[in-house]
Amino acid sequence: MTLFIKKEFWVAYICTIKFKKMRIIKLYLIIALLIVSCKTAQEATIQISQEITSPQIDTRAIQGGMWIPSLLEGINEQEMFALGSKMTAKDIYDVNNSSLKDAIVHFNGGCTSEIISPNGLLLTNHHCGYGAIQSHSSVEHDYLENGFWAMNYAEELPNPSMNVTFIKRIEDVTSLILAGVSDEMTETAKMSIINKNMENAVKLAQKEAWQDANVKEFYKGNQYILFITETFNDLRLVGAPPSSIGKFGSDTDNWMWPRHTGDFSMFRIYADINNKPAAYSKENIPYKPNHFLPISLDGVSEGDFTLVFGFPGRTNEYLPAVGVAQIVDLLNPAKIELRANALGIADSFMRTNKEIKIKYASKYASTANYWKKWIGENQGIKKSKAVEQKRALEKEFLKIVEEKDLAGYKTLLSDFEQLYKDIENVSLARDYWSEVALRNVELLGFSFRLYQLEQVFEKSGAAAFEKSKVATLSRFEAMYGDYSPTVDKPVFEKLVTIYAQKSPKEYLPATMLKSNFSTITNDIYTKSKLTSLKGVQELLTGSPEEVIKKINADKGYAFGKELHTMFYTTVEPKFQLLNLEIEAIQKKYMKGLMEVFPTKRFFPDANSTLRVTYGQVKGYEPADGIYYNSTTYLDGVLEKYIPGDYEFSIPQKLIDLYNAKDFGPYAENGKMPVNFIGTNHTTGGNSGSPAIDAHGNLIGLNFDRVWEGTMSDMNYDPDICRNIMVDIRYVLFIVDKYAGATNLINEMKLVHPKK
Ligand code: ARG
Ligand code: ASP
Repeated sequence: MTLFIKKEFWVAYICTIKFKKMRIIKLYLIIALLIVSCKTAQEATIQISQEITSPQIDTRAIQGGMWIPSLLEGINEQEMFALGSKMTAKDIYDVNNSSLKDAIVHFNGGCTSEIISPNGLLLTNHHCGYGAIQSHSSVEHDYLENGFWAMNYAEELPNPSMNVTFIKRIEDVTSLILAGVSDEMTETAKMSIINKNMENAVKLAQKEAWQDANVKEFYKGNQYILFITETFNDLRLVGAPPSSIGKFGSDTDNWMWPRHTGDFSMFRIYADINNKPAAYSKENIPYKPNHFLPISLDGVSEGDFTLVFGFPGRTNEYLPAVGVAQIVDLLNPAKIELRANALGIADSFMRTNKEIKIKYASKYASTANYWKKWIGENQGIKKSKAVEQKRALEKEFLKIVEEKDLAGYKTLLSDFEQLYKDIENVSLARDYWSEVALRNVELLGFSFRLYQLEQVFEKSGAAAFEKSKVATLSRFEAMYGDYSPTVDKPVFEKLVTIYAQKSPKEYLPATMLKSNFSTITNDIYTKSKLTSLKGVQELLTGSPEEVIKKINADKGYAFGKELHTMFYTTVEPKFQLLNLEIEAIQKKYMKGLMEVFPTKRFFPDANSTLRVTYGQVKGYEPADGIYYNSTTYLDGVLEKYIPGDYEFSIPQKLIDLYNAKDFGPYAENGKMPVNFIGTNHTTGGNSGSPAIDAHGNLIGLNFDRVWEGTMSDMNYDPDICRNIMVDIRYVLFIVDKYAGATNLINEMKLVHPKK
């Protein structure tokens, strides 16, 4: 700030000096001064200004949104100040200096993580590290059950198939990507130019040899942004609490508040000797980040500013009412029914068989996760009258379009009505296929991989087939490791029966046109080679022709193949055709909304790119007469504790620490905080995202949303949508007092911003 005044002052001063006919010198002096002042700014490291005062903005009007980190200057920055932030847009994202963004890492494509030490120590959720923790577990070394802590670098466990990605630079390339595209073109013609331009933009992007570039679409294709990224493949497991802490409350508490889950795990990024990405090697060393998050020991109170920085996956905020209604009335109920049945069957086996419990733990959790989310989403949409609200907005939109005679937007909403009617059956058929034949009946999922292999042979010949076969076999090894035909058989019979009953008939192959599947189920599960790894390896031995012949003679494969063929020859082409039209209308509608309501705030839907969302720590009213506080405590864990229960039991050591009130420096007035909620707009993919305070310190770890608000993916409502975070002090308490991993605490930078 002071520098700015000085620079302005000197420029003005030089302008007043009377150089005889020496305007050029004056100009040079000014340019030199500007360069010097910019340079000084570039050299500054992230040092949060304390001078910022909150502007007068009605904070109730600040309602969600996931914003692009490079475009925060202006309204977002002002809103954040109004909510109490002391950070400038540049403190959050800066290309030339280290900024918060340098500590935020996309975790294995699906979650977020953040760097919390100068040695590349990475924090994410337990449920994000779950697959890795499971892969190192066996009945003898059950890290899911007992937790895992590396007490030094040598004990950290490598995860060869995982990776993490940093965002180095973000650039708007809209004009480049839309060059040559005009309104008169067909959608296919537009897409082909856009795709070519995207390829070119990637090719021409300025980047280092070890970096990558990719372009993503925003605002439904009204904006395009280029990302330069850096991906690291040597990622090691450092620590995880037992599931009784990291997944406390399991599926009963999932998507719920009040919550008491220590949903965290830790990894470390390793780099080569030059701090650059490298494949796993013993010689690699802990990564030295450009920035890591200091950790606040001062906790949060109601009303505190919070910022969540991460990689939200997908939202659909601008769907028309008819699209939302289709999801809520048709697609969600179909998927919920299928998954409820699959889960019920798996659960009955998992409760009585320890081996099956470990094998199915990860799959069960991920299937249950969205099953429960869709139920909450449906309830929330109905309760918040989202469809009615959208209809009202559309009416208003049409009114203004008519008043202003905006010809391009007049038919959009009737087009949507027609297109959603046209796509209804095929969307439903598509969901039945993907839920039954791809995901929940595992044997059909295996048949799908073989189907793909057969397609490779037919389209690309023997050499390509042999190559794919190797990959398929190695994939099968992992998949069959967690497979039990005992569980899968009743799932097959139940789900295939529902599929045959309820999926639109025109999209069912002949084999599905019956009502009883018990004989065929018995037949397949006694005769098909797809029920074991050995069987499928046998099928895949021999020349390509022999393999193709053998698999086609297999009853399980033959059954699956009919479903997959119907899907690829009929369902998918029809769906894609209609969907392309819907997307084209959606792109115009998005543009129309921004034009028709110029003062309304529109954020771009989530698309797995880095975003900033901000809000405040805040309770909510889930139903009339009930108010939920914003923080939970360890006392609540003990209240929920059910000895021996598979969801609500806890380790004796935690009980002992609680009884002794042995909380170290992490408690607040003698109580140990566990979770808190806020008004940050998050979605799937934000799991593991840091919750950051007004000064840039870590205060929490995002992991979930409240059930009443899971509809935020289609209708964010600031009254009831809340994200759920682990209080960072609970993480520190578990690492330090429960696990005794003081080696990790010593790496971190603990701060007291409130004192
Ligand atoms: N609902 C959270 C999310 O969508 C957490 C899921 C993990 N926990 C579970 N019990 N399945 O990812
Ligand atoms: N639990 C989610 C995740 O894994 C976050 C959410 O949907 O709120 O990303």
